[in-house]
Amino acid sequence: MNRSEFLKMTALAGTAFSIMPAKAVFGNPSSSLRIGVIGTGLRGQELLRLSLQREDTQVVAICDIEPLMLSDALQLFEKAQKPHPVIYTGSPVIYREMLAKEELDAVIIATPWEWHYPMAMDAMDAGVHVGCEVMMGTTVEEHWNIVNKSLQTGKQYMMLENVCYRRDVMAVLQMVRQGIFGELIHLQGGYQHDLREVKFNDGKQAYGGGVEFGANGFSEAKWRTQHSVDRNGDLYPTHGIGPLSKMLNIHAGNRFSSLVSMASKARGLHDYIVKTGGAEHPNAAVKFSLGDIVTTMIKTANEETILLQHDTSLPRPYSLGFRVQGTKGLWMDINKSIHIEDITQPHRWEEAKDWLTKFDHPLWQKYGSDAQGAGHGGMDFFVVHAFLEAIKRGEPTPISVFDSAAWSVITPLSEWSVANNSNSIDFPDFTMGKWNTLPQIFANNDDY
Ligand SMILES: NC(=O)c1ccc[n+]([C@@H]2O[C@H](COP(=O)([O-])OP(=O)(O)OC[C@H]3O[C@@H](n4cnc5c(N)ncnc54)[C@H](O)[C@@H]3O)[C@@H](O)[C@H]2O)c1
Repeated sequence: MNRSEFLKMTALAGTAFSIMPAKAVFGNPSSSLRIGVIGTGLRGQELLRLSLQREDTQVVAICDIEPLMLSDALQLFEKAQKPHPVIYTGSPVIYREMLAKEELDAVIIATPWEWHYPMAMDAMDAGVHVGCEVMMGTTVEEHWNIVNKSLQTGKQYMMLENVCYRRDVMAVLQMVRQGIFGELIHLQGGYQHDLREVKFNDGKQAYGGGVEFGANGFSEAKWRTQHSVDRNGDLYPTHGIGPLSKMLNIHAGNRFSSLVSMASKARGLHDYIVKTGGAEHPNAAVKFSLGDIVTTMIKTANEETILLQHDTSLPRPYSLGFRVQGTKGLWMDINKSIHIEDITQPHRWEEAKDWLTKFDHPLWQKYGSDAQGAGHGGMDFFVVHAFLEAIKRGEPTPISVFDSAAWSVITPLSEWSVANNSNSIDFPDFTMGKWNTLPQIFANNDDY
């Protein structure tokens, strides 16, 4: 099915879609995009840098509340030799003025998690498409509100989940699509990243190795650590679930049906503060709610199981811990290995390198050189490219509002399960029954 057929199909797919404005299901195609960026911190600067590389995109406005982040962002305009944007700053809600005045086609949001929801809602209300960094909202209700807002306004919402575009992950997606693993049975992933060493800032420069957070912190330490004080659940599921979801054809014939979560005790952050800052440091008295390891299991409508782990407070090397297993074999990223029955040696691992080269995704073959130098091994290029290209062409984004909601809602569902003795909780069906009829459009063509 090509994209225009898809557009026709989604327009006819049911009441949810038919209440969109008649003008265009997903907005006006145009050859050049006017975009704004809200949040020019460390992540926003990378998304901005990639947007500035494009000839078809003008970044006409940026918004942040931190002078240091704004001045770093402005340097990117100098380097790219692009005209300076209008700057919105001075109030946490000044972004609304930007949305009202700048006639934007799309906005990129890279602010702290708690700001994503109001900013995305306001953007869609202002008639602006949204590309938002990972995490959609805090409560289940907020996720529903975003989905409904997108359907009512006809404005797209795409979570900028970059790991979906990681080169090895996309090669494995190709292998899944070609049946190399047989029928999928069980998948694993997660976010396993030692985040204990937060940065602080003396107003001019950021220093690593600290134990400060909140007002004394820099970048994520300013806001992320507070979530570990207040909340217990899988706070960051999307890097794991995004790619797995695409392999499992979630919202293209499959959906998540239920979830259970279990959290370990919380020791890592406290121990780190005592070891690094001393037992007398004020933060040594902080009580962290977030269990050091949060394990979540999800069952799908097609009866696969998924295991996700959130592990950010203990000493460990980085790994997203992927495992993709079917009736014929499996791939794991931790040992970079593969096993396929009757092809690789019985009971032995084989290095995955040659397989990943053989099944390299056509998008990587086409755009690999453009992606060189982009963040996270190049995958950041692809996610920005996919969002802007889809919006420019007036086509559906390859990560839909339904995908974005289902991946992000894992957090409140898992918090509920942890707080309720690991009871099982049903997933909301954000597609309102359309999950079985929507086509798979992710990385299904050679453009984006
Ligand atoms: N996909 C990835 O690989 C990846 C990597 C890093 C971060 N992220 C995500 O990106 C987002 C930002 O993370 P970061 O590391 O850049 O954090 P950061 O703290 O460096 O940047 C956030 C920026 O938002 C600004 N901000 C806060 N409130 C604002 C408001 N009301 N109006 C305007 N600006 C406001 C801050 O001043 C800051 O500059 C988070 O959602 C994070 O989870 C994703």
